[in-house]
Parts: sequence; structure tokens; C-alpha cells
Amino acid sequence: MLSVKENLIVEFSAALLNKFSEVVSRYPEGKQKSALLPILHLVQEEYGWLSVDAMDKVALFLNIQPIEVYEVATFYTMYLLQPQGKYLLEICRTGPCCLVGAEKIMNHLEEKLGVKEGEVTADGLFSWRGVECLAACGFGPVLQIGPSYTFYENLTTESVDELIGNLKDQSLNKA
Ligand code: FES
Repeated sequence: MLSVKENLIVEFSAALLNKFSEVVSRYPEGKQKSALLPILHLVQEEYGWLSVDAMDKVALFLNIQPIEVYEVATFYTMYLLQPQGKYLLEICRTGPCCLVGAEKIMNHLEEKLGVKEGEVTADGLFSWRGVECLAACGFGPVLQIGPSYTFYENLTTESVDELIGNLKDQSLNKA
């Protein structure tokens, strides 16, 4: 189900539209819908998440119905349907990581950042969520940070605190 909390009206740049066209050109004539997944990734890279308006404009571009975009975007958890913090911390919550403390890490993150799963910190820097297996099962608990998808393994509450501190510093230094 598409649950809409916020919308963002977008105007795709000529550069982004060119990238869409390049992706579409990889598929046979009349099969432009096959470009939907990579195009949604491009939109997410540009805006950080997929608003309804952005999805509607993708539908228009591909000459398909908006519902065809929504059903794909809501099926795959890699697509983000609401704004996120600058750093989205994704913690593996699958069995092997849970056995070595993933839940403790998630509880710690909630307490440390002061936001629940899916929410954004007041400074706009952080959000977090539990995700399924990140394919580093022997090194749990594990988290990744999008959009570069850097991995952090064998997490402890101390290493999480250090990571958050480093990200804050990094953000300040870039400001
Ligand atoms: Fe956590 Fe596979 S179970 S990475």
C-alpha cells in the first residue's frame, strides 16, 4: 500500500532525462517499462527518496500508469518512500545478526539518536531502519550506510557511538 506522508514536487533536469533515455535505449522497442527499476534508482540518487510526484513523472516518461510505478516502488525495500536523514543507517535484523546483538544495536541507535525507526533527527543528519540480510552474516551485527553503502561490521554500542561521532564531524567539516 502506498502510504503518503509527504510529497515533493520535482522537475527532472535535462541531464537526468538524458540518463533516463540512455537506460530506455538498452531495451527493445516497446519494452520501455523494463527501464523502470534503474530509472527509480536514478531518481532516488538525485532526490534521496521517491515522492509521489516523482513517481508520477517517471510514469509519464515511460508512458505507463502511475500504479505500475507505485507497485514496484512499494515492493522493493531499497526504494525509499519518505525523506531520510543525510546518513541512513541500515541495520541487518535477520536471524544470524540478531543472534549476536542486532536488536541491542537498534535499541541503542534509537536511544542515541532520539528517533524511532524511519524518523529523521532534528538536525536532518540521521535516520535508521532494520533491513534484511546484508550478506555479511559472519561479521554481525552489521550496518550499511547509503548511498555509498559502506559496511560496518562486528558492531558494538561503542563502535556505533564512534561512527555517529565521526559522521557528525564529517558533516560539520563539509559545511
Ligand atoms: Fe546479517 Fe546476513 S544475517 S548480514
